[in-house]
Amino acid sequence: TTRSWEYIKVSLSETGKVGIVQLNRPKALNALCSGLFHELNDAIRTLDNDPAVGAVVLTGLPKAFAAGADIKEMANTHFVDNYKSNFLGHWTEITQARKPVIAAVQGFALGGGCELAMMCDLIYAGDNAKFGQPEIKLGTIPGAGGSQRLVKAVGKSKAMELVLSGNMWSAEEAERAGLVARVFPADTVVAEAVKLGEQIASYSQVATQMCKEAVNKSFELSLAEGLHFERRLFQATFATKDQKEGMKAFAEKRAAQWTNQ
Ligand code: CAA
Repeated sequence: TTRSWEYIKVSLSETGKVGIVQLNRPKALNALCSGLFHELNDAIRTLDNDPAVGAVVLTGLPKAFAAGADIKEMANTHFVDNYKSNFLGHWTEITQARKPVIAAVQGFALGGGCELAMMCDLIYAGDNAKFGQPEIKLGTIPGAGGSQRLVKAVGKSKAMELVLSGNMWSAEEAERAGLVARVFPADTVVAEAVKLGEQIASYSQVATQMCKEAVNKSFELSLAEGLHFERRLFQATFATKDQKEGMKAFAEKRAAQWTNQ
C-alpha cells in the first residue's frame, strides 16, 4: 500500500482490516488501460497476501467506476497479436483472490467496467450507478465475462437484452435483476462497502475464505458435485481452531476470539 501508483489509490480502513483499492484515472473515466490493470492486479495480490486484511473493497470515482476497456488503446490492434498475447487474459487474476472482494460502484460501470464489477464477489451500487455492456455499439462483443458472468447473475433474457441493445441499467434495475446486492445513496456506498468489509473481516479468515470458495464453486460444478464440495469444506472447518472457538463461545455466551487457525 505504500508504493506510488499511477492509475489507482490503495489504502486501508481505520482498523487496517479492509483494503481499499480506488481506480483513479479521471481523465478517461477510469478506462481500463493495460497499466491500470497491472497496478490493480498488483494491489489486489498484495492485499490478498496481507494477513491483517480480511476483505477488500474495489471502487472507482464518483462519475465512473470504469467506462470499460481502453478503446483508444485497443482500437488498432489486430487479432493475431491479441491472440498471441492472450489479450485481456490477465484480467481474470482478480478472481483468484482468496479474500472477499466487494465492488462499490458509482457512476458508469460499462463494458469491461461492468465485467470487472462482476469479477468481484458482490456489488454494492450508488443510486447514480449505470451498468451496461455497450460493446455492440463498437462493433465488438463483451470480452471479459459480459456474456458469461452476466447470464449467471441475471439469467438469459435480461443478459441478452443488455448485451444486444447496449442500453444501460440504472442501479435500481440492476438490483431488481440481481446483479447488485444493495443500492445506497451514492456518497455513502464506499462507506457501506467498507462497513460490510469490516463485518466480514471480523470473522475467521479461514471460514470466510471457505465460504467464498464454496459459493464460487457453484458456478463451475453440477449440483451434486457442488453439494459434495460444500460438505467436504464444512467438515474441514471442524479441523480448525476457529470452529472450536466459535461454537464454544456461543455456548459460553461470549464473543469469539478468532485466531485464523
Ligand atoms: N476508453 C477510452 N477512453 C474513454 C473510455 C473508454 N472506454 N470511456 C471514456 N473515455 C474517455 C473519453 O474519450 C473522453 O476523453 P477525452 O476527454 O480525451 O475526449 C473522456 O473519457 C470523458 O468521456 P466523455 O467525454 O465521453 O464523457 P461523457 O460523460 O460525455 O460520456 C460515457 C460518458 C457515456 C461513459 C462515454 O464516455 C462512453 O460511452 N464511453 C465508452 C463506453 C464503452 O463503450 N465501453 C466499452 C468499452 S469496450 C470493452 O470494455 C470491451 C470488453 O468487454 C473488455
